[in-house]
Amino acid sequence: MKKMIEIAKKAALEAGKIHMEFFNHDKEIFFKQNEFDLVTNVDRQSEQVICSIIKQEYPEHAFLGEESGASTNLSEYLWIIDPLDGTTNYTHNFPHFAVSIGLYKSGKPLLGVVLDPFKKEMFWAIKGEGAFLNDKKISVSNADCLKKALLATGFPYGRDNILEKNLEYFKKFIYKAQAVRRPGSAALDLCYVASGRLDGFWELNLSPWDVAAGVLIIEEAGGKVTNFNSDKFDYNIKNILATNKKIYTEMQEELNS
Ligand code: IPD
Ligand code: CA
Ligand code: CA
Repeated sequence: MKKMIEIAKKAALEAGKIHMEFFNHDKEIFFKQNEFDLVTNVDRQSEQVICSIIKQEYPEHAFLGEESGASTNLSEYLWIIDPLDGTTNYTHNFPHFAVSIGLYKSGKPLLGVVLDPFKKEMFWAIKGEGAFLNDKKISVSNADCLKKALLATGFPYGRDNILEKNLEYFKKFIYKAQAVRRPGSAALDLCYVASGRLDGFWELNLSPWDVAAGVLIIEEAGGKVTNFNSDKFDYNIKNILATNKKIYTEMQEELNS
């Protein structure tokens, strides 16, 4: 496992260098599903670099990357990659974005790395060995009720009923929590719950690459991640509730009422 986490960190750092090279400089911007769903040359280049570093060491492993999709080979090991989480922030030179790399074995998380290259913060975890921010162990917060809690969420790119639904949740939580934020990188939102900067996070319709690494980082930091119905999280579940455990029930009730 030591070698695997080193490779994951190296791949994240190399992708982070590409982010920083183009940050505050011109980048090529393209549209994906609609005019709000952006991708840049930096997303694409970063994913290529990450995959080539990992493939050099583990050519037989499978990959699922946001920009290149799923590899065709079968392996019990699956690397799930978001080369640039927070692309909208990034295109505006808003300094809150990340690289996210998770490794799963037979569907179970083995390790996760989320790097914020602007702030030079690397969140990482290995199954059973705790969660870390750079070299320091992290753990979730102690906030024990919504009134004391700082929450975050994110909104989908589609202007549809999922957006409407989340606006309803946002309205509920903004009345009940101490405050609610929309930082713009789901991978970092999860790591902020893991490190106690946030007490809870929810979002609808996420993809495996948004959460594959962050979920393990929260669990290893003592938090709890499920879907809105309390089913244990796996990376294919789209609607996610991530908390410090203490505000779990209160948040879950709001999401189901
Ligand atoms: C997005 C970010 C955002 C979240 C969106 C994601 P991307 O990922 O994580 O915070 O609200 O749902 O799609 O497109 O920047 O990789
Ligand atoms: Ca993402
Ligand atoms: Ca992305």
